[in-house]
Amino acid sequence: MLQSMRIIGGSRLTGEIEISGAKNLALPALVTTLLTDQKITLKNVPDLADIRSLLDLLEHIGTDVNYIDKHTIELSTSFIKSVEAPYDFVRKMRASILVLGPLTTRFNRALVSLPGGCAIGSRGVDLHIRALELMGANISIENGYIKTNVNGNLVGCDITFSIATVTGTENVLMAAVLAQGTTRIINAAMEPEIVAFCDLLNKMGANISGAGTSIITIEGVEQLHGTEFEIIPDRIEAGTYAVAAAVTGGKLLLRNCQYNHLTSFFETLTRAGITCDKTETGVTVYRTGQDIAPIDIQTAPYPGFPTDLQAQYTVLMSICNGSASITENIFENRFMHIPELSRMGADIAIHGKTAVVTGVKKLTGAQVMATDLRASVSLVIAGLIAEGETIVNRLYHIDRGYEDIEKKLNSCGANVERFSV
Ligand code: EPZ
Repeated sequence: MLQSMRIIGGSRLTGEIEISGAKNLALPALVTTLLTDQKITLKNVPDLADIRSLLDLLEHIGTDVNYIDKHTIELSTSFIKSVEAPYDFVRKMRASILVLGPLTTRFNRALVSLPGGCAIGSRGVDLHIRALELMGANISIENGYIKTNVNGNLVGCDITFSIATVTGTENVLMAAVLAQGTTRIINAAMEPEIVAFCDLLNKMGANISGAGTSIITIEGVEQLHGTEFEIIPDRIEAGTYAVAAAVTGGKLLLRNCQYNHLTSFFETLTRAGITCDKTETGVTVYRTGQDIAPIDIQTAPYPGFPTDLQAQYTVLMSICNGSASITENIFENRFMHIPELSRMGADIAIHGKTAVVTGVKKLTGAQVMATDLRASVSLVIAGLIAEGETIVNRLYHIDRGYEDIEKKLNSCGANVERFSV
Protein backbone atom coordinates (compact mmCIF):
# COMPACT_ATOMS: atom_id res chain seq x y z
CA MET A 1 0.00 0.00 0.00
CA LEU A 2 1.58 3.31 -1.07
CA GLN A 3 1.64 6.09 1.52
CA SER A 4 1.70 9.88 1.24
CA MET A 5 2.18 12.71 3.69
CA ARG A 6 -0.06 15.76 4.09
CA ILE A 7 1.73 18.82 5.48
CA ILE A 8 -0.03 22.04 6.46
CA GLY A 9 2.61 24.77 6.35
CA GLY A 10 3.16 27.73 8.64
CA SER A 11 4.14 26.30 12.04
CA ARG A 12 7.43 27.21 13.71
CA LEU A 13 9.20 24.11 14.98
CA THR A 14 10.13 24.47 18.65
CA GLY A 15 11.25 21.92 21.22
CA GLU A 16 13.61 19.00 20.84
CA ILE A 17 14.11 16.05 18.52
CA GLU A 18 15.93 12.88 19.57
CA ILE A 19 18.40 11.98 16.81
CA SER A 20 18.36 8.25 15.96
CA GLY A 21 21.36 6.03 15.25
CA ALA A 22 23.23 6.63 11.99
CA LYS A 23 21.85 4.62 9.07
CA ASN A 24 25.18 4.80 7.22
CA LEU A 25 27.05 3.28 10.15
CA ALA A 26 24.39 0.76 11.16
CA LEU A 27 24.41 -0.79 7.66
CA PRO A 28 28.13 -1.73 7.56
CA ALA A 29 28.04 -2.54 11.29
CA LEU A 30 25.37 -5.21 10.70
CA VAL A 31 27.56 -6.82 8.03
CA THR A 32 30.45 -7.37 10.47
CA THR A 33 28.55 -10.44 11.71
CA LEU A 34 29.95 -12.21 8.63
CA LEU A 35 33.50 -11.68 9.94
CA THR A 36 33.13 -13.81 13.08
CA ASP A 37 31.17 -16.82 14.35
CA GLN A 38 30.64 -15.04 17.65
CA LYS A 39 27.74 -12.78 18.67
CA ILE A 40 27.65 -9.08 17.75
CA THR A 41 25.23 -6.87 19.72
CA LEU A 42 24.46 -3.47 18.20
CA LYS A 43 22.68 -0.76 20.19
CA ASN A 44 20.95 2.41 19.00
CA VAL A 45 20.23 0.84 15.61
CA PRO A 46 17.68 3.04 13.79
CA ASP A 47 14.33 1.41 12.96
CA LEU A 48 14.41 1.92 9.16
CA ALA A 49 13.39 0.10 6.00
CA ASP A 50 17.03 -0.10 4.81
CA ILE A 51 18.05 -1.83 8.05
CA ARG A 52 15.27 -4.38 7.71
CA SER A 53 16.19 -5.03 4.06
CA LEU A 54 19.83 -5.70 4.96
CA LEU A 55 18.80 -7.99 7.84
CA ASP A 56 16.70 -9.99 5.34
CA LEU A 57 19.80 -10.45 3.17
CA LEU A 58 21.96 -11.45 6.16
CA GLU A 59 19.34 -14.02 7.22
CA HIS A 60 19.35 -15.35 3.65
CA ILE A 61 23.14 -15.79 3.96
CA GLY A 62 22.78 -17.56 7.32
CA THR A 63 22.82 -14.98 10.11
CA ASP A 64 20.59 -15.44 13.14
CA VAL A 65 18.99 -12.09 13.93
CA ASN A 66 17.52 -11.46 17.37
CA TYR A 67 15.84 -8.15 18.27
CA ILE A 68 16.45 -7.47 21.98
CA ASP A 69 14.35 -4.32 21.67
CA LYS A 70 13.35 -1.88 18.91
CA HIS A 71 16.92 -0.50 18.65
CA THR A 72 19.11 -3.36 19.96
CA ILE A 73 19.94 -6.28 17.68
CA GLU A 74 21.97 -9.44 18.34
CA LEU A 75 23.51 -11.11 15.28
CA SER A 76 25.40 -14.36 14.99
CA THR A 77 26.61 -16.17 11.90
CA SER A 78 28.00 -19.47 13.12
CA PHE A 79 27.68 -20.99 9.68
CA ILE A 80 26.45 -19.75 6.33
CA LYS A 81 23.76 -21.14 4.06
CA SER A 82 24.74 -19.13 1.01
CA VAL A 83 27.45 -16.77 -0.26
CA GLU A 84 24.98 -15.20 -2.63
CA ALA A 85 23.45 -11.72 -2.48
CA PRO A 86 20.64 -12.12 -5.07
CA TYR A 87 19.53 -9.31 -7.38
CA ASP A 88 16.19 -8.99 -5.56
CA PHE A 89 17.91 -7.98 -2.34
CA VAL A 90 20.63 -5.80 -3.88
CA ARG A 91 18.31 -3.83 -6.19
CA LYS A 92 16.29 -2.74 -3.11
CA MET A 93 19.30 -1.80 -1.05
CA ARG A 94 22.58 -1.01 -2.77
CA ALA A 95 24.52 -1.10 0.49
CA SER A 96 24.13 -4.90 0.13
CA ILE A 97 27.38 -4.62 -1.85
CA LEU A 98 29.01 -4.49 1.59
CA VAL A 99 28.78 -8.29 1.90
CA LEU A 100 31.28 -8.69 -0.96
CA GLY A 101 34.43 -8.04 1.09
CA PRO A 102 33.54 -10.07 4.19
CA LEU A 103 32.25 -13.11 2.27
CA THR A 104 35.38 -13.15 0.11
CA THR A 105 37.83 -12.75 2.99
CA ARG A 106 36.17 -15.20 5.42
CA PHE A 107 34.54 -17.75 3.10
CA ASN A 108 36.83 -17.33 0.08
CA ARG A 109 33.97 -16.76 -2.35
CA ALA A 110 30.99 -14.53 -3.02
CA LEU A 111 28.28 -14.09 -5.64
CA VAL A 112 26.85 -10.59 -5.32
CA SER A 113 24.48 -8.94 -7.77
CA LEU A 114 25.77 -5.72 -9.29
CA PRO A 115 23.63 -2.98 -7.69
CA GLY A 116 22.97 -1.24 -10.99
CA GLY A 117 22.39 2.49 -11.13
CA CYS A 118 20.03 4.37 -8.91
CA ALA A 119 18.06 7.59 -9.16
CA ILE A 120 20.94 9.82 -8.07
CA GLY A 121 23.57 8.41 -10.38
CA SER A 122 25.51 5.48 -11.83
CA ARG A 123 27.06 4.73 -8.43
CA GLY A 124 29.59 2.28 -9.78
CA VAL A 125 31.26 -0.32 -7.62
CA ASP A 126 34.31 -0.70 -9.86
CA LEU A 127 36.60 0.55 -7.09
CA HIS A 128 35.29 -2.10 -4.69
CA ILE A 129 35.96 -4.82 -7.30
CA ARG A 130 39.42 -3.54 -8.28
CA ALA A 131 40.50 -3.42 -4.64
CA LEU A 132 39.60 -7.09 -4.06
CA GLU A 133 41.40 -8.04 -7.27
CA LEU A 134 44.54 -6.27 -6.03
CA MET A 135 44.23 -8.28 -2.79
CA GLY A 136 44.28 -11.53 -4.77
CA ALA A 137 40.64 -12.36 -5.43
CA ASN A 138 39.76 -13.91 -8.80
CA ILE A 139 36.80 -11.86 -9.99
CA SER A 140 34.45 -12.26 -12.93
CA ILE A 141 31.29 -10.38 -13.87
CA GLU A 142 28.69 -12.82 -15.17
CA ASN A 143 24.97 -12.30 -15.80
CA GLY A 144 24.89 -9.13 -13.72
CA TYR A 145 26.69 -10.75 -10.78
CA ILE A 146 30.12 -10.19 -9.26
CA LYS A 147 31.68 -13.59 -8.70
CA THR A 148 34.75 -13.78 -6.46
CA ASN A 149 36.91 -16.60 -5.23
CA VAL A 150 40.31 -16.77 -3.62
CA ASN A 151 42.62 -19.70 -2.83
CA GLY A 152 43.65 -19.28 0.78
CA ASN A 153 43.69 -15.77 2.23
CA LEU A 154 43.45 -12.41 0.60
CA VAL A 155 46.82 -10.69 0.77
CA GLY A 156 47.19 -7.14 2.10
CA CYS A 157 48.56 -4.43 -0.21
CA ASP A 158 48.26 -0.71 -0.96
CA ILE A 159 44.85 0.25 -2.34
CA THR A 160 44.65 3.76 -3.79
CA PHE A 161 41.11 5.02 -4.41
CA SER A 162 40.67 7.58 -7.21
CA ILE A 163 37.46 8.60 -5.40
CA ALA A 164 37.13 8.62 -1.60
CA THR A 165 34.31 6.05 -1.73
CA VAL A 166 32.54 5.48 1.60
CA THR A 167 31.24 1.93 1.11
CA GLY A 168 34.32 1.13 -0.96
CA THR A 169 36.45 2.00 2.09
CA GLU A 170 34.17 -0.11 4.28
CA ASN A 171 34.32 -3.12 1.92
CA VAL A 172 38.13 -3.02 1.85
CA LEU A 173 38.31 -2.58 5.63
CA MET A 174 36.28 -5.77 6.09
CA ALA A 175 38.30 -7.65 3.46
CA ALA A 176 41.61 -6.52 4.98
CA VAL A 177 40.98 -7.30 8.68
CA LEU A 178 41.31 -11.05 8.00
CA ALA A 179 43.77 -10.78 5.07
CA GLN A 180 47.41 -11.78 5.31
CA GLY A 181 49.74 -8.88 6.08
CA THR A 182 49.29 -5.14 5.82
CA THR A 183 46.73 -3.22 3.75
CA ARG A 184 46.83 0.54 3.34
CA ILE A 185 43.82 2.36 1.95
CA ILE A 186 45.08 5.55 0.32
CA ASN A 187 42.49 8.30 -0.27
CA ALA A 188 40.19 6.54 2.21
CA ALA A 189 36.83 8.06 3.13
CA MET A 190 37.12 10.07 6.39
CA GLU A 191 33.47 10.30 7.46
CA PRO A 192 32.59 9.95 11.19
CA GLU A 193 30.85 6.71 10.21
CA ILE A 194 34.19 5.36 8.96
CA VAL A 195 35.89 6.28 12.26
CA ALA A 196 33.13 4.60 14.26
CA PHE A 197 33.21 1.58 11.94
CA CYS A 198 36.95 1.14 12.55
CA ASP A 199 36.28 1.46 16.30
CA LEU A 200 33.81 -1.42 15.99
CA LEU A 201 36.22 -3.59 13.99
CA ASN A 202 39.03 -2.89 16.49
CA LYS A 203 36.67 -3.84 19.35
CA MET A 204 36.22 -7.15 17.49
CA GLY A 205 40.00 -7.68 17.57
CA ALA A 206 41.08 -6.03 14.33
CA ASN A 207 44.23 -3.93 14.11
CA ILE A 208 43.35 -0.71 12.27
CA SER A 209 45.04 2.69 12.53
CA GLY A 210 44.58 6.01 10.76
CA ALA A 211 40.76 6.03 10.72
CA GLY A 212 39.53 9.55 9.99
CA THR A 213 42.59 10.36 7.89
CA SER A 214 43.06 9.68 4.19
CA ILE A 215 45.42 6.75 4.85
CA ILE A 216 44.08 3.83 6.89
CA THR A 217 46.42 0.94 7.74
CA ILE A 218 45.06 -2.52 8.54
CA GLU A 219 47.25 -5.35 9.91
CA GLY A 220 45.45 -8.62 9.12
CA VAL A 221 44.64 -10.92 12.08
CA GLU A 222 43.71 -14.61 12.32
CA GLN A 223 40.16 -14.10 13.49
CA LEU A 224 37.75 -11.62 15.03
CA HIS A 225 35.55 -12.09 18.10
CA GLY A 226 32.13 -10.85 19.13
CA THR A 227 31.44 -7.53 20.87
CA GLU A 228 28.80 -4.99 21.86
CA PHE A 229 28.72 -1.59 20.16
CA GLU A 230 26.57 1.55 20.16
CA ILE A 231 25.77 3.22 16.83
CA ILE A 232 26.65 6.96 16.74
CA PRO A 233 23.87 9.53 16.11
CA ASP A 234 22.80 10.14 12.50
CA ARG A 235 24.42 13.42 11.45
CA ILE A 236 22.36 13.60 8.24
CA GLU A 237 19.08 13.22 10.13
CA ALA A 238 20.32 15.92 12.52
CA GLY A 239 21.26 18.25 9.67
CA THR A 240 17.86 17.69 8.09
CA TYR A 241 16.02 18.82 11.24
CA ALA A 242 18.46 21.72 11.65
CA VAL A 243 17.23 23.05 8.29
CA ALA A 244 13.62 22.47 9.37
CA ALA A 245 14.22 24.67 12.44
CA ALA A 246 15.98 27.32 10.35
CA VAL A 247 13.37 27.61 7.59
CA THR A 248 10.38 27.69 9.97
CA GLY A 249 12.01 30.33 12.18
CA GLY A 250 11.68 28.02 15.16
CA LYS A 251 14.17 26.69 17.70
CA LEU A 252 15.11 23.02 18.03
CA LEU A 253 17.45 21.08 20.30
CA LEU A 254 18.85 18.21 18.21
CA ARG A 255 19.40 15.82 21.11
CA ASN A 256 22.56 13.65 20.79
CA CYS A 257 23.73 15.50 17.67
CA GLN A 258 27.54 15.89 17.67
CA TYR A 259 28.52 19.31 16.32
CA ASN A 260 31.97 18.10 15.20
CA HIS A 261 30.34 15.53 12.88
CA LEU A 262 28.78 18.39 10.89
CA THR A 263 31.23 21.27 11.30
CA SER A 264 31.27 22.47 7.68
CA PHE A 265 27.46 22.23 7.54
CA PHE A 266 26.89 24.12 10.80
CA GLU A 267 29.51 26.73 9.84
CA THR A 268 27.61 27.29 6.58
CA LEU A 269 24.30 27.68 8.44
CA THR A 270 25.98 30.15 10.81
CA ARG A 271 27.18 32.25 7.87
CA ALA A 272 23.60 32.19 6.56
CA GLY A 273 22.40 33.75 9.81
CA ILE A 274 21.32 30.61 11.67
CA THR A 275 22.57 30.09 15.21
CA CYS A 276 23.92 26.58 15.92
CA ASP A 277 24.84 26.28 19.59
CA LYS A 278 26.71 23.27 20.97
CA THR A 279 25.07 22.21 24.24
CA GLU A 280 25.66 19.43 26.80
CA THR A 281 23.02 17.25 25.14
CA GLY A 282 23.32 18.14 21.45
CA VAL A 283 23.05 21.21 19.22
CA THR A 284 20.39 23.94 19.43
CA VAL A 285 19.49 25.56 16.10
CA TYR A 286 17.45 28.72 15.57
CA ARG A 287 17.30 31.70 13.23
CA THR A 288 18.59 34.88 14.83
CA GLY A 289 17.44 37.65 12.47
CA GLN A 290 14.67 37.69 9.89
CA ASP A 291 16.94 37.34 6.85
CA ILE A 292 18.67 34.20 5.62
CA ALA A 293 21.91 35.20 3.88
CA PRO A 294 22.71 33.55 0.52
CA ILE A 295 25.77 31.32 0.99
CA ASP A 296 27.25 29.33 -1.91
CA ILE A 297 28.19 25.69 -1.28
CA GLN A 298 29.95 22.87 -3.11
CA THR A 299 29.36 19.32 -1.91
CA ALA A 300 32.54 17.35 -1.19
CA PRO A 301 33.73 14.24 0.61
CA TYR A 302 34.00 14.62 4.40
CA PRO A 303 34.92 17.03 5.98
CA GLY A 304 33.40 19.09 3.16
CA PHE A 305 29.71 19.98 2.81
CA PRO A 306 27.78 16.65 2.81
CA THR A 307 26.03 15.71 -0.43
CA ASP A 308 23.30 14.10 1.72
CA LEU A 309 22.34 17.58 3.00
CA GLN A 310 22.43 19.36 -0.37
CA ALA A 311 18.70 19.01 -1.13
CA GLN A 312 17.71 20.15 2.36
CA TYR A 313 20.05 23.15 2.14
CA THR A 314 18.48 24.07 -1.22
CA VAL A 315 15.15 24.60 0.60
CA LEU A 316 16.85 27.00 3.03
CA MET A 317 18.33 28.98 0.14
CA SER A 318 14.93 29.02 -1.65
CA ILE A 319 13.82 31.69 0.87
CA CYS A 320 17.18 33.45 1.28
CA ASN A 321 17.79 37.15 0.85
CA GLY A 322 19.52 37.01 -2.54
CA SER A 323 20.96 34.27 -4.78
CA ALA A 324 23.14 31.30 -3.85
CA SER A 325 24.86 28.69 -6.01
CA ILE A 326 24.76 25.04 -4.98
CA THR A 327 27.20 22.72 -6.74
CA GLU A 328 26.80 18.92 -6.50
CA ASN A 329 30.20 17.31 -7.03
CA ILE A 330 29.58 13.78 -5.74
CA PHE A 331 26.62 12.43 -7.72
CA GLU A 332 25.64 13.17 -11.28
CA ASN A 333 21.90 13.41 -10.79
CA ARG A 334 21.10 14.75 -7.37
CA PHE A 335 18.87 17.71 -8.32
CA MET A 336 15.58 15.80 -8.61
CA HIS A 337 14.06 17.83 -5.78
CA ILE A 338 14.49 21.01 -7.84
CA PRO A 339 11.66 20.61 -10.40
CA GLU A 340 9.33 19.75 -7.50
CA LEU A 341 10.48 22.76 -5.43
CA SER A 342 9.94 24.94 -8.50
CA ARG A 343 6.34 23.73 -8.61
CA MET A 344 6.06 25.09 -5.06
CA GLY A 345 7.25 28.49 -6.24
CA ALA A 346 11.01 28.21 -5.72
CA ASP A 347 13.18 30.12 -8.23
CA ILE A 348 16.02 27.76 -9.16
CA ALA A 349 18.01 27.50 -12.40
CA ILE A 350 20.16 24.45 -13.08
CA HIS A 351 23.41 24.88 -15.00
CA GLY A 352 25.09 21.44 -15.19
CA LYS A 353 26.35 20.55 -11.70
CA THR A 354 25.28 23.91 -10.26
CA ALA A 355 21.86 25.12 -9.18
CA VAL A 356 21.42 28.88 -8.76
CA VAL A 357 18.74 29.51 -6.13
CA THR A 358 17.16 32.98 -5.92
CA GLY A 359 15.21 33.53 -2.73
CA VAL A 360 11.47 34.10 -2.95
CA LYS A 361 9.11 35.53 -0.35
CA LYS A 362 7.14 32.33 0.06
CA LEU A 363 6.52 28.83 -1.25
CA THR A 364 3.02 27.51 -1.94
CA GLY A 365 1.75 24.03 -1.16
CA ALA A 366 1.47 21.46 -3.98
CA GLN A 367 1.28 17.73 -4.67
CA VAL A 368 4.93 16.65 -5.08
CA MET A 369 7.00 13.52 -5.40
CA ALA A 370 10.68 12.68 -5.35
CA THR A 371 12.72 9.67 -6.21
CA ASP A 372 15.42 9.52 -3.62
CA LEU A 373 15.63 9.66 0.13
CA ARG A 374 17.13 13.12 0.61
CA ALA A 375 15.19 14.79 -2.24
CA SER A 376 11.97 13.45 -0.66
CA VAL A 377 12.72 14.81 2.78
CA SER A 378 13.59 18.22 1.31
CA LEU A 379 10.01 18.38 -0.04
CA VAL A 380 8.68 17.72 3.47
CA ILE A 381 10.79 20.62 4.77
CA ALA A 382 9.47 22.82 1.95
CA GLY A 383 5.92 21.80 2.95
CA LEU A 384 6.57 23.00 6.50
CA ILE A 385 6.96 26.59 5.24
CA ALA A 386 4.71 26.51 2.16
CA GLU A 387 1.41 28.37 2.24
CA GLY A 388 -1.43 25.83 2.44
CA GLU A 389 -1.29 22.07 1.97
CA THR A 390 1.53 19.99 0.50
CA ILE A 391 1.18 16.31 -0.33
CA VAL A 392 4.42 14.34 -0.61
CA ASN A 393 3.96 11.01 -2.40
CA ARG A 394 6.05 7.78 -2.31
CA LEU A 395 6.89 7.96 1.39
CA TYR A 396 8.83 4.70 1.13
CA HIS A 397 11.81 6.80 0.05
CA ILE A 398 11.68 8.71 3.33
CA ASP A 399 11.09 5.62 5.44
CA ARG A 400 14.45 4.31 4.24
CA GLY A 401 16.33 6.93 6.24
CA TYR A 402 14.09 8.81 8.73
CA GLU A 403 12.72 7.00 11.76
CA ASP A 404 9.28 8.22 12.98
CA ILE A 405 9.56 11.43 10.96
CA GLU A 406 5.97 12.60 11.39
CA LYS A 407 6.04 11.83 15.13
CA LYS A 408 9.26 13.79 15.57
CA LEU A 409 7.97 16.77 13.51
CA ASN A 410 4.51 16.87 15.13
CA SER A 411 6.07 16.74 18.61
CA CYS A 412 7.66 20.12 17.76
CA GLY A 413 4.51 21.80 16.45
CA ALA A 414 4.34 20.68 12.82
CA ASN A 415 1.03 19.65 11.23
CA VAL A 416 1.95 16.47 9.37
CA GLU A 417 -0.21 13.43 8.64
CA ARG A 418 0.59 10.16 6.89
CA PHE A 419 -2.15 8.44 4.87
CA SER A 420 -2.45 5.49 2.51
CA VAL A 421 -3.34 6.03 -1.15
C1 EPZ B 1 27.67 6.46 0.74
O1 EPZ B 1 27.29 5.93 -0.51
C2 EPZ B 1 26.37 6.75 1.48
N1 EPZ B 1 25.63 5.51 1.66
C3 EPZ B 1 25.55 7.76 0.66
O2 EPZ B 1 24.38 8.06 1.42
C4 EPZ B 1 26.37 9.03 0.50
O3 EPZ B 1 25.65 9.95 -0.29
C5 EPZ B 1 27.70 8.69 -0.19
O4 EPZ B 1 28.40 7.68 0.59
C6 EPZ B 1 28.60 9.90 -0.32
O5 EPZ B 1 28.84 10.45 0.93
C7 EPZ B 1 26.01 4.64 2.61
O6 EPZ B 1 26.97 4.87 3.34
C8 EPZ B 1 25.19 3.39 2.77
P1 EPZ B 1 30.48 6.61 -2.64
P2 EPZ B 1 28.39 5.23 -1.45
O7 EPZ B 1 31.02 5.26 -2.96
O8 EPZ B 1 29.44 4.61 -0.64
C9 EPZ B 1 31.41 6.98 -7.26
C10 EPZ B 1 22.09 8.41 1.76
O9 EPZ B 1 21.32 9.27 1.32
N2 EPZ B 1 31.96 5.62 -7.15
O10 EPZ B 1 31.21 7.45 -1.64
O11 EPZ B 1 27.67 4.41 -2.44
C11 EPZ B 1 29.91 7.01 -7.05
O12 EPZ B 1 29.26 6.78 -8.27
C12 EPZ B 1 23.09 7.75 0.84
O13 EPZ B 1 22.15 8.03 2.96
C13 EPZ B 1 32.43 4.99 -8.29
O14 EPZ B 1 32.39 5.56 -9.39
O15 EPZ B 1 29.00 6.50 -2.16
C14 EPZ B 1 29.66 8.40 -6.53
O16 EPZ B 1 29.50 9.28 -7.63
C15 EPZ B 1 22.95 8.22 -0.60
N3 EPZ B 1 32.92 3.73 -8.19
C16 EPZ B 1 30.95 8.73 -5.77
O17 EPZ B 1 31.92 7.78 -6.20
C17 EPZ B 1 32.97 3.06 -7.00
O18 EPZ B 1 33.45 1.91 -6.97
C18 EPZ B 1 30.83 8.63 -4.27
O19 EPZ B 1 30.26 7.39 -4.01
C19 EPZ B 1 32.48 3.72 -5.84
C20 EPZ B 1 31.99 5.01 -5.94
